[in-house]
Formats: sequence, C-alpha cells, structure tokens
Amino acid sequence: MRLDPKAMRYLTGEDFRVLTGVEIGSRNHEVVPTPLIVQLSGLRGGSGVHKCISNLAKLNLIAKVKNTKYDGYRLTYGGLDYLALHTHQKQKTVYSVGNRIGVGKEADIIVVAAASGEQRVLKIHRLGRISFRTVKTNRDYLRHRSSASWMYMSRLAAMKEYAFMKALNENGFRVPDPIGQNRHTIVMSLIDAYPLRQISSVPEPSKLYAELIEMILELASVGLIHGDFNEFNILIKEEKVVSSAKGKEPERLHTDNDDDGDDDENTNIILTPILIDFPQMVSMDHTNADMYFDRDVNCIKRYFQRKFGFVSDEPGPFFKDAKKLVGTRKGGKRLDVEVEASGFSRKMAKELEAYMKEVGVDGDNGGEERDSEDEEDEDQEDGSGSEEGERDDAEEEQGQSTSDRAAGEEAPGSKESLDIDKLKISETPGQAS
Ligand SMILES: Nc1ncnc2c1ncn2[C@@H]1O[C@H](COP(=O)(O)OP(=O)(O)O)[C@@H](O)[C@H]1O
Ligand SMILES: [Mg+2]
Repeated sequence: MRLDPKAMRYLTGEDFRVLTGVEIGSRNHEVVPTPLIVQLSGLRGGSGVHKCISNLAKLNLIAKVKNTKYDGYRLTYGGLDYLALHTHQKQKTVYSVGNRIGVGKEADIIVVAAASGEQRVLKIHRLGRISFRTVKTNRDYLRHRSSASWMYMSRLAAMKEYAFMKALNENGFRVPDPIGQNRHTIVMSLIDAYPLRQISSVPEPSKLYAELIEMILELASVGLIHGDFNEFNILIKEEKVVSSAKGKEPERLHTDNDDDGDDDENTNIILTPILIDFPQMVSMDHTNADMYFDRDVNCIKRYFQRKFGFVSDEPGPFFKDAKKLVGTRKGGKRLDVEVEASGFSRKMAKELEAYMKEVGVDGDNGGEERDSEDEEDEDQEDGSGSEEGERDDAEEEQGQSTSDRAAGEEAPGSKESLDIDKLKISETPGQAS
C-alpha cells in the first residue's frame, strides 16, 4: 500500500472525527457497526456522519464489510496512515510529504518536510503486510483480533524503534535524530547517505570494518544487540574535510551511481557509518543473545569478504567476550534497561517478538543467506502473490523485496526530484456536507 497524501487537504475536521471513531471502534470490533461509528464520532446530525462515512470509504480510508450479523466498516492501512499524518501535522513534525525512498517488507520510507523546509524521514511500519494469512490462521495466542493486530503490532514496532533510536541518540551513538512517533509511524532526521549495500568500493575496508565491529561492541557495552546489522541498515555518510596536507590521496568511496567530478586534492573524505532500523533490537540478556550477536558479527564479516574481498586476521569478536563489556560504558549505563523503563515494556517486547516470528520477520535478509547473488541486478519479486488472496487488504500492493528497494529507489540525497504535496487540511467544520 502506497501512501497517497493527496486527499489529506480535502478532508474536513468532521471527516477526521469519523475516521477516529472507526479507529476507536476497531479496538474491540473487528467490523465497527455503523451506529457505533456515529456514536463514537461525537457529531450531532446523523446524515452528516453518513456523508463522511461514504467519503472516507470512497477514499479507501475505511472499507465496508458485510458481516453475517451486521454491516459496518473497518479501518484500512490508508486510514491509519492518514490519522498518523494528521497527528504529525498537528504536532508540526510533518508539514508536507515527498517521495518514497524505500519500501521493505515491513515498512515504507518516505521523505517528508517540516514547515521550515527541513527534510525528514517518515517510516511507516507495516508489520504483517506480507504474511497476513499466516497471522490469521495462527492468531490464537494473540489476544488481539486479527484486523486490529496488524495495527497494534505495527504500532509496537514503531514505539520500540523510536524508544531505541532515542536512547542510542542521546548516548552518542550514530543514529538518526528521533523527531516524533505516532501510531505505526516515526519521524526522524534524513541521513544524506547511501546504504553500505550500494557502495561498490571503499578505500580502506579494514578501517570501515573495524569501525563497524567497534559499533557492535559499543552496543554490547550498553547491553544491546542490533539484531539486523547488515548492509541495508548501515548508511555510509561521506564527510568532506578540507586538509592542508598537499598531495595526499583523498579517501574516496564509490557508489553505484557516482556523479562527482568535484574531486579536490585538498579534500579528504571521511566515511561515517550510521545505524538505522531498530525494531528487532534485543538485550544482551536475551535467551538467544549469543545467536543474535554472532549473526550480526558474521553478517558483516561475510559481507566484507564477499563485496570488498576483505578478511580480518582477528577471529571474533565472540559473545562471551562481549558479555564482559556489558555495563562498562559511561558509568555502567544499560540502554536495554533504560528503554524498558521508558515505557516499552518487557511484555510489549515479548508480544512483538512473538508476532514478528509468526509473520516471518527476520531482518532485511529474510532470515539468512541471500548470499550467492551479489549485485543489485536481481529483481525477482518477493514471494509471489499467490497466497495473498485471503488477506484483508487485498487491494494493497505487494511489498517489494529489499533488493529491489536498494537498487531502484532513489537515494535520499537527490533533493531536486522531490515532489512535495502540501498537506494543508481544511479545518472548516461541516462545510456544505
Ligand atoms: N533516516 C534515514 N535517512 C536516509 N535514508 C533512510 C533513513 N531511514 C531509512 N532509510 C532508507 O530506507 C531503507 C529502509 O529503511 P529501514 O529503516 O531499514 O526499513 P526496513 O525495516 O524496511 O528495513 C534503508 O535501507 C535506507 O536506504
Ligand atoms: Mg532495514
């Protein structure tokens, strides 16, 4: 499902109240009966509400469902997106919406702008988009109803990601600045950089490798494992530093769409890795911490070997050694403990983890070994649409594979191509409706 914000500006305050009514109603109704929507919207004059309902349904923000017992509506992903955007707009975290720069199995990444024009990133979590059917058939252990579960779980993923981004950011880790979180979305700073995946060569692989391993160990020292430490989730920022030393070869990285020509002998380029994507972070105390830790380390080792032909002479690092580092940084800070205390509880973490396992979320690599292929030219569809028939949101498009995204989507740096739609919404209550 693609976020299309165009209708935002035509929706009235009443439309949003009715949409909110459907959202509230879906907390305990799989299909929200129309009279309940009328009641929850808190608007007087039933015919006005019915106008809003048909308007919202036309825009696919809610969908009519004919039940055996009664007719009603359910909220669609589009409706949930609009509610979140509306809140971001009110909180001034988002003013306008631009291009989608990434689409993964579990999230859409969209460039947005603040009123000042500052560009930001809106990440919309869409947990269970691909494997909706699996969720439906195995949902017994979930307390939540199926139609509410994707909303609830996507919200948990956003909450978790935001909580970790904030804790990491405040503690000197190189991650985006967290700006806002609402429902299943977060707003963060735009990193003007390419994912490691798109970088074909680096001048000193050993240096970058060492920095990445250092990052893994720094995370361990505050009690954390990223859990999906791979070439898609590490952005490599180039920072130009003008050096006075003449004749020194400038450090340079090459991306697959290089366009430079402004190489200056006096300019050194420093490569800074920035880490993103945190919904699967785990504590160093997690039951399977050793497996997650090793997987993160091996992922980087394998990638550097395959892509840059670099193999470190040092074995490890190993989990048992990393474990000794826990609590050794900054007066024994434990960010796993801090995040838990900040509101993303252990219970929420467990629920989310169980659900992610259930819907097969296991990082950008889809579990393991996409190995043999190397470059960005593979554009196989991710998992065919054949089992999608039963999915509630059948109208929604299939998610692309992460490899498509890395190849085809635009780099965040290309600012010229932004087509920003103003999100101004009419707040005039009940105009002619
Ligand atoms: N803050 C950001 N700045 C720039 N690019 C970003 C940012 N966040 C995400 N991206 C881009 O979007 C892609 C997907 O983002 P990610 O958070 O990893 O989502 P997913 O959970 O779908 O993997 C990244 O690989 C990166 O290219
Ligand atoms: Mg990712």
